[in-house]
Amino acid sequence: MTRSESGATPEAAVLRPHAEQQYAAELARLAEHDDRPRPPGWRLSPWAVTTYLLGGELPDGSAVTPKYVGPRRLMEVAVATLATDRALLLLGVPGTAKTWVSEHLAAAVSGDSTLLVQGTAGTPEEAVRYGWNYARLLAEGPSTAALVPSPLMRAMRTGAVARIEELTRMPSDVQDALITILSEKTLPVPELDTEVQAVPGFTVIATANDRDRGVNELSSALRRRFNTVVLPLPAGVDEEVDIVARRVDQLGRALTLPETPAGLAEIRRVVTVFRELRSGRTVDGRTTVKSPSGTLSTAEAISVITSGIALAAHFGDGVLRAADVAGGIVGAVVQDPASDRVIWQEYLETVVRERPEWRDFYRACREVS
Ligand SMILES: Nc1ncnc2c1ncn2[C@@H]1O[C@H](COP(=O)(O)OP(=O)(O)OP(=O)(O)O)[C@@H](O)[C@H]1O
Ligand SMILES: [Mg+2]
Repeated sequence: MTRSESGATPEAAVLRPHAEQQYAAELARLAEHDDRPRPPGWRLSPWAVTTYLLGGELPDGSAVTPKYVGPRRLMEVAVATLATDRALLLLGVPGTAKTWVSEHLAAAVSGDSTLLVQGTAGTPEEAVRYGWNYARLLAEGPSTAALVPSPLMRAMRTGAVARIEELTRMPSDVQDALITILSEKTLPVPELDTEVQAVPGFTVIATANDRDRGVNELSSALRRRFNTVVLPLPAGVDEEVDIVARRVDQLGRALTLPETPAGLAEIRRVVTVFRELRSGRTVDGRTTVKSPSGTLSTAEAISVITSGIALAAHFGDGVLRAADVAGGIVGAVVQDPASDRVIWQEYLETVVRERPEWRDFYRACREVS
């Protein structure tokens, strides 16, 4: 048996470790210093979960890195919700860290962020309830051994957080299957004349995209079982630059990109362009600009910079420059080849060109536009 078959694969060998693996040391230190009351089934107290999310310093002087950058109150409301019998719905426009926060919350509360159901138009009811191993079902008839539990059923049994991604994309009859689970905390299995009852610690974190609302609007019965926390876009340029710089740094290390100077000025420029196009006016408030069809989220700014760093490291001189991000920006802005191109050209000529310190950027964008 090779090393990896024995399960002894070093964690660095996977492309993206789960939050509870990547931050195992932080979580362990938090648990060690956490003397506040923990709700039944929780690995940490609500206070420690919030510190894990927002960062802070522990009594031994060691630092906890911030995962979420934004209003503290929102995270407190989210964590407090999980300590009640209500489920949590994270709502927001694309790229506002809904999935990210949900993963870290599950990692901190139950030490397991993998009990995940991805909502799509084709999500079957089995993904929320349970399915069957048909070979066994045919051979032995319905039995506990033939039952294939859903991530939700496993979370109910172990008292953990179950995650549902893109809840509003699931067909409404599948969404409705959640109602009994959330209100009665039980999942009947009529075929076996039994039920699975949730143990303390079980709860659900769902995410949904603002823009998808209306595809499969949440039924009011289901909505009443959730507390909704709306994750906002970063409040200001500085905050967004901070988020992008942090994530780019982490991603660069995870992808073992060659060391490239942070290029904070370049990050600020990308964030400024995205914010101006998103909000429809320049940061000084003087000029109005048209907004393109794409979302231009923080997440997209992160990938523009990360690709730029790869370009600079492998094909440039190792310093992130305007030419390394221009292509990525144009790609993110011009989603619709006709209308977005016009909007971009107008922005380039009326805003970018007028900024003397943006000359290099203007030239680079002209080249790729
Ligand atoms: N306020 C923030 N704090 C920390 N990271 C953030 C913040 N906003 C965005 N990010 C980063 O943006 C990236 C994308 O976030 P995520 O995928 O969670 O977005 P989402 O809201 O789920 O988007 P979608 O609606 O497209 O699914 C993550 O890498 C996350 O770290
Ligand atoms: Mg998401």
